Amino acid sequence: MAVTIKSKREIDLMRESCRILAQVHAQLGRAIRPGISTWDIDALGEKLIRGYGCTPNFLHYNGYPASICVSVNDEVVHGIPSKERILKEGDIVSLDAGLIYKGYHSDAARTYPVGKISDDAAKLIAVTRKSFFAGIKYARAGYYLHDISNAIAAYCGRYGYGVVRDLTGHGIGTSLHEDPVIPNYRQLRRGIRLQPGMTLAIEPMVNLGSYKVEWLEDEWTVVTRDGSLSAHYENTVLITEGEPEVLTLLSERK
Ligand code: MF3
Ligand code: CO
Repeated sequence: MAVTIKSKREIDLMRESCRILAQVHAQLGRAIRPGISTWDIDALGEKLIRGYGCTPNFLHYNGYPASICVSVNDEVVHGIPSKERILKEGDIVSLDAGLIYKGYHSDAARTYPVGKISDDAAKLIAVTRKSFFAGIKYARAGYYLHDISNAIAAYCGRYGYGVVRDLTGHGIGTSLHEDPVIPNYRQLRRGIRLQPGMTLAIEPMVNLGSYKVEWLEDEWTVVTRDGSLSAHYENTVLITEGEPEVLTLLSERK
């Protein structure tokens, strides 16, 4: 499939889809505390998404059984919510959420501390978030896709963290996953030239130890192979004539 360039009308729909998702994330973030189950987080997320008149796009996607991916500690992404999985002080939890508004998809992820966490864990979360911003310095017309990938990889590499290779970011629009594939590790091949109207889900997944991951028996949950902690930070980003617009952040001018 080709990379799509969104029209003005489509961009407005993407903006609204993403603005709603940012509000869902803000509310989910406030619900994170010791004692909540990952199932409760999913139930709240689904209720919030539907309350805005939107549809959770992860639910039943390739058979995924929930609306919010909730991944704890060494779980990288695609953790399946469970009533038995209760968050406790010192955990870190990654929430990946998305929705459909009038046919347009949004996708964003955040990693939160549960109560007080270790300095190592806090630093991993902060660096993962900052690597996204290092990457989007190049999310501008005229740069190439690998400029984003290489900037994320270089930023995380400075801390000796392992950047996950088996999962990537992606284009997004009328489908959750569109071209291009957006790796978070160094690419020699430059990839596509960025153009205004592209909407990209850029999502570094970063491990405290090795970049290597494996899949659990449930065929969804991705965990670090060495058992180290992992963090995730994702936003849907619009390429413009100038600064990139981070559509899933509430503080951005809209
Ligand atoms: N947010 C994930 C992504 O960026 C999608 C989750 S896939 C699901 O690709 F099946 F778990 F929903
Ligand atoms: Co995504």
